[in-house]
Amino acid sequence: MNFPRLHLAPMQGLIDAPMRDLLTRIGGFDVCVTEFVRITHTVHGRSIWLKYMPELAHTNQTQAGTAVVVQLLGSHAENMALNAKKVVELGATHIDLNFGCPAPTVNQHQGGAVLLQYPDKIEEIVATVRRSLPAKIMLSAKMRLGYENKNLALACAQAIEQGGAGELTVHARTKTEGYRPPAHWEWIARIRQSVSIPVIANGDVFTLADYQQIRSVSGCKDVMLGRGAVQRPDLARQIAAYNQGEIIPSLSWLEILPWINDFFNCCCNKDAANHNYPVARLKQWLAQLKLVYPQAGQLFAQLRTLTKIADIRHILLTQLKH
Ligand SMILES: Cc1cc2nc3c(=O)[nH]c(=O)nc-3n(C[C@H](O)[C@H](O)[C@H](O)COP(=O)(O)O)c2cc1C
Repeated sequence: MNFPRLHLAPMQGLIDAPMRDLLTRIGGFDVCVTEFVRITHTVHGRSIWLKYMPELAHTNQTQAGTAVVVQLLGSHAENMALNAKKVVELGATHIDLNFGCPAPTVNQHQGGAVLLQYPDKIEEIVATVRRSLPAKIMLSAKMRLGYENKNLALACAQAIEQGGAGELTVHARTKTEGYRPPAHWEWIARIRQSVSIPVIANGDVFTLADYQQIRSVSGCKDVMLGRGAVQRPDLARQIAAYNQGEIIPSLSWLEILPWINDFFNCCCNKDAANHNYPVARLKQWLAQLKLVYPQAGQLFAQLRTLTKIADIRHILLTQLKH
């Protein structure tokens, strides 16, 4: 496949199955990655895998037919391999390994970004997982540029390739840089030039202009969108249209509203017993959407103190009728 691909980022607590479903139905994405599944000393059973990736029961695709990849995070190579094997037995066809999570709890257990200080360990994990999987299963990895500095960025990328990963996503920041702008896209270019596997560029793509810029600076064909896709749900669709030679207008607030209602309903259906979940997820999304749509801030203010699904649904339906 030679066309530029768009990946939807793994985002723990923000892009779960209902959000993947919604964003891929709005369109433009070729692949999504699940939130990281943390691997410690046990092999997760079917229910845990399905909790993170309900798409396993639907040929690893969202409703819109977009492929879903499952992401594992951990530091114990053998346990990572056993868990990867397990999820492949359940039907997964593509595993991604996380070498970028900055969360202190995860890093204390030697998982995520902390591993970027130890390229040998990274290679061991990738190679052990690779060996445990049939050749037809795709193994990829996602990394930041380093832990406290970028000294080992190329060594880590090369370790990932050496270990047998088939592609690599690079979030162009170190762990210490957190999410502070700028993302160092020029480092993605350096990494791309130092490995022969495809590199997917990630970090701070919030607009079509950012997309054009990250591709030009990094030299990568494929790009991953995270926060930009949550704040501007049609960003991927706009980019995909641009890649086909078309410029399409952004969705207006009135066009976004039915998607908000749809998302809320999806979250309500996900876990009928848990009333907090849809309420929290809706408020969280509105807080992101208001960075682009001021009307989302007004809607958020109306809903802020409400906790009952029926009250929120009433407000959403009233908005839709206007
Ligand atoms: C709330 C949040 C959760 C995240 N969870 C994950 C995760 O589970 N796995 C992962 O590899 N990266 C995770 N990331 C990093 C994103 O995938 C992405 O690399 C980062 O947000 C930069 O891309 P963006 O500027 O397009 O958002 C997370 C980021 C945020 C803000």
